[in-house]
Parts: sequence; structure tokens; C-alpha cells
Amino acid sequence: MKAVICEQFGLPETLVFKEVPSPIIVSTQVLIRVITAAVNFPDTLIIQNKYQFKPNLPFAPGGEVAGLVLSVGKDVSHIKVGDRVVALCGWGGFAEQVAVEANRVFKIPDTINWQIAASTLYNYGTSYHALKDRGQLQPGQTILILGAAGGVGLAAVELAKKMGAIVIAAASNQEKLAICIKKGADYTINYSTEDLRESIKKITAEKGVDLVYDPIGGVLAEPALRSLAWKGRYLVVGFASGTIPSLPFNLALLKGASVVGVFWGAFTEKEPALSIQNLRELVKMISQGDIQQEIYKLYQLNNASQAIRDLIDRKVIGKAIIQVSEEIEPTLITAIDTALCS
Ligand SMILES: NC(=O)c1ccc[n+]([C@@H]2O[C@H](COP(=O)([O-])OP(=O)(O)OC[C@H]3O[C@@H](n4cnc5c(N)ncnc54)[C@H](OP(=O)(O)O)[C@@H]3O)[C@@H](O)[C@H]2O)c1
Repeated sequence: MKAVICEQFGLPETLVFKEVPSPIIVSTQVLIRVITAAVNFPDTLIIQNKYQFKPNLPFAPGGEVAGLVLSVGKDVSHIKVGDRVVALCGWGGFAEQVAVEANRVFKIPDTINWQIAASTLYNYGTSYHALKDRGQLQPGQTILILGAAGGVGLAAVELAKKMGAIVIAAASNQEKLAICIKKGADYTINYSTEDLRESIKKITAEKGVDLVYDPIGGVLAEPALRSLAWKGRYLVVGFASGTIPSLPFNLALLKGASVVGVFWGAFTEKEPALSIQNLRELVKMISQGDIQQEIYKLYQLNNASQAIRDLIDRKVIGKAIIQVSEEIEPTLITAIDTALCS
């Protein structure tokens, strides 16, 4: 099969597009023919050996895929050959086939197209968990979303709006902010040209925001924390800036505020029932057309390194998607499955 392989740790330009053997599944796994794969922030880190999970070389990056099930291990009961699925594989997704533990594979309805499917779990899963379970966002509350045109940020804009919040989207340029408005943001702040704190004071008539959604960290964290209203919540989502901020604790005391961690991956493992319920609600919202991830660009598999480069360079608005292969007829899949099992 064709795959994009990390043979040595480094920047995206060091990745190699080549022919490699197809994976072989064990009894608890599912073999997926990958149709589309999402490009996520961890892909930028895992190829540089800077991520919390460190696969052995050589490996294909790509942690989130959508595709068709080619075969299932003997201990797998909830997935069958030919199912349309999305999966969180950690890595291995920038390849025509990937083997994934069955508990990380989820069936999707026919109504969700392949591009949207690949961009659902990670972005919306994270942001829905952040807003609903960790932030307890209520209708009428005001939320500041930093990095609002990024993958998780834009999903947060859409979901917060859907949950009845007043949304202030903050990003680094006007093109990004225009997409945030299209997705429902009520107010925007360009933090490259505006003072974040002063703009929030103006928008909220000095009251401050009830929630901050922060996937960036770095220098924006302190002015954002200072902009919380009484009993506000600061959602710590990520550190895309590369800097984990150190913040004065007295600000939490003075505002009766909470700093709340968000770790969606751990949530899916520690609270699987709640996580599945969230995913069901999200699939319903997507199927009804209530929310729909902005697709920045569709890249071919042999150009996956460019997609990762664009994410690193902050060019991507919403989601970059890799078209890994074309869809094939379910009858052909059954034939492949029979061949694999014989
Ligand atoms: N806690 C969790 O469970 C969880 C789950 C998913 C993701 N995350 C984390 O959330 C963060 C964002 O993920 P994402 O998928 O939304 O990434 P993304 O699509 O690349 O968006 C990140 C945004 O951060 C901003 N940014 C500021 N400084 C940056 C820098 N030096 N490099 C890159 N981007 C920078 C960019 O917006 P501007 O150009 O507008 O500033 C960019 O759009 C990552 O740290 C990721 O690991 C955490």
C-alpha cells in the first residue's frame, strides 16, 4: 500500500511517500481502508518526536481517519466488514490501510460525507467536552475563544453558538475572523492588531467574559485570564504557541474564578459512556446540518507533508484533509475480506 512515512524525526519535508506492507490486525483490531484523514496538531509534533506518544520509527503519521472496514479481528463484535467508520488511530492514518483497536472505531451514518467524517471526532469531540462537561456553558453566557479559526477553535465557535452563548472569536488576521463570523461569532478580535483586554472590556461593557477557551497558551493567556467575569471559567485546552503560560493565582481568587483542564483523549477512556453520548449528540447535529467543519483544503496523500507544513505555518482555517484513496464498492470489500481470511 502507499503511505507517507516518517523514517527519521524532523520537519514535514523529511517525510517520504512510498510503498510499504499493509498492516496485519490482531484479534481486537479493525483493518480500515482509509478514504480521508484529518491533519491535526499532534501530527506536527509526533513527526518531530515532540508529542506525548512516541511511536517507533518508521511509522506513518495521521491520528484520525474515515474509511471502510476491510476486516475485523475475531474478538470484535460491534463493527463489521463494509461499515463506514471514523477512527482515532494515534498514528498510521496517512496510509491506504490502518489497523486500529476496535474501541477507537465508530460507525457513521451514510449522510456524513468523507471529508466531514474525518474532521469530526477530534475537533468537535474536544470542543463539545470542553464547553459542555468542563465549562458548563449556559445560554446567554459570553465566551472568548482564542485561536478561533483553528481546528478545535472553529468547532468551539459553532458549538458555543449552538448552545446559546454570545461568542467572541479571537484570531490573528481578518481572513480567519471572517470565517468565524460565517460560523456564528457575534464579535471578533484581531489579536495581532488589537489589545485583547481592552477589546474585551469594550465588547462586554467592562463586565468580562464568563468563559475563556484557550488552545494557544503563551502571551495571550494572562490578558485572557484577567478578562474573566466574576465566577468565570478558564478552559485550558492546548498550547499551540509552544509556550505553557505561568499565571498569577491571585487572579483566580479575586474573580472567584476556576481554571479548568480539558483532556478529551483521557475523557474518552475514563468516561466512555459519557463520551459516546457526546459523540451521538454530535453526529446528530452534523447529520441535521446544525454544525459543519470548515474544510480548508483537500490534499492528495503524496502531498500530506505540505498539509502539515501549512498547519505549522498557521495557514489552515478550520481543517486540512488528506484524500487518501477513493471509495470502493462494499461488494469489492467483502471480496477483499474473503481473500484476507482465506
Ligand atoms: N486538551 C485536549 O483534549 C486537546 C484536544 C485537541 C487539541 N488540543 C490542542 O489544542 C491546540 C490547537 O489544536 P488545533 O487542532 O486547533 O490546531 P490548529 O488547527 O493548528 O489551530 C491552532 C491555532 O492556534 C493559533 N496559534 C497561535 N500561535 C501558534 C503557533 N505558534 N503555531 C501554531 N498555531 C498557533 C493559530 O491561530 P492564529 O493564527 O489565529 O493565532 C492556529 O489557528 C493544540 O495545542 C492541540 O494539541 C488539545
